[in-house]
Amino acid sequence: MSKYSDRWQTVKVTVEQGIAWVSLNRPEKRNAMSPTLNREMLEVLDAVEQDPDAGVLVLTGEGTAWTAGMDLKEYFREVDQAPEIFQEKIRREASEWQWRRLRLYSKPTIAMVNGWCFGGGFSPLVACDLAISADEATFGLSEINWGIPPGNLVSKAMADTVGHRESLFYIMTGKTFSGQKAAQMGLVNSSVPFADLKAAVTELAMNLLEKNPVVLRAAKNGFKRCRELTWEQGEDYLYAKLDQAQLRDPEGGRAQGLKQFLDDKSIKPGLETYRR
Ligand code: COA
Repeated sequence: MSKYSDRWQTVKVTVEQGIAWVSLNRPEKRNAMSPTLNREMLEVLDAVEQDPDAGVLVLTGEGTAWTAGMDLKEYFREVDQAPEIFQEKIRREASEWQWRRLRLYSKPTIAMVNGWCFGGGFSPLVACDLAISADEATFGLSEINWGIPPGNLVSKAMADTVGHRESLFYIMTGKTFSGQKAAQMGLVNSSVPFADLKAAVTELAMNLLEKNPVVLRAAKNGFKRCRELTWEQGEDYLYAKLDQAQLRDPEGGRAQGLKQFLDDKSIKPGLETYRR
């Protein structure tokens, strides 16, 4: 039995062989992100971060959806009636996990897109470090179809991963696209038949689990931060992260990597990770 069984109402978490499988769990509502789900996901991210058994987080969905986006009833219509200041809290809780916490998460993250992925779902999709989709999955920026422009960081997520023309085409038309198209556009890393999805994600996660976790965090977050810095700022920042990783790395990865290549001649770092 999972140590997290039944802890959350809208999210299911199981940890197996170093992988935390975090599954949005409202299949009857196509995993639409309600205020409750948003609040629970914050707790889940905290729990998995501190869990020594979890080295990689995979974000997926139960049933036919990854997520149908923001919950149009519980996040939009019901909150419309609430006091204005309450709306601030509801929005903050959504942003907090969907991109702020997830984007620079301290462990590597993979979005495993198993089905429907709409609108607000694009924020956590792009906030995950890597993403693999099922060919059969259906993506869409449906906001225009029900009367709003994409909110939260959905447009930014598109601008960060997909080109100008394709982004505007899907934002303006609300047309859907497949997992294969998402891979072709760079929105996800790759797309595989649904039957092979879990195996493909597991293989990728296993690769990441071989890496030094402190160095991996500095590497992925350094890349994301430096996209928004100048070259000069980026150089300072990345050297600071490199020094910080060395200072904080309990296994002294750099020294091991150099020794195994230069002295022992037991690895070729161009082709493999040093032995931990
Ligand atoms: N918010 C709230 N409820 C949602 C939802 C959403 N984003 N997406 C689906 N649901 C609910 C439906 O209202 C329905 O509830 P009900 O059983 O109480 O009537 C249930 O989930 C099943 O949805 P249904 O439309 O019957 O499923 P489907 O498999 O035929 O179609 C979708 C799936 C995803 C294509 C369709 O549900 C849809 O278009 N959802 C909205 C997508 C969207 O625009 N998201 C907003 C992005 S910001």
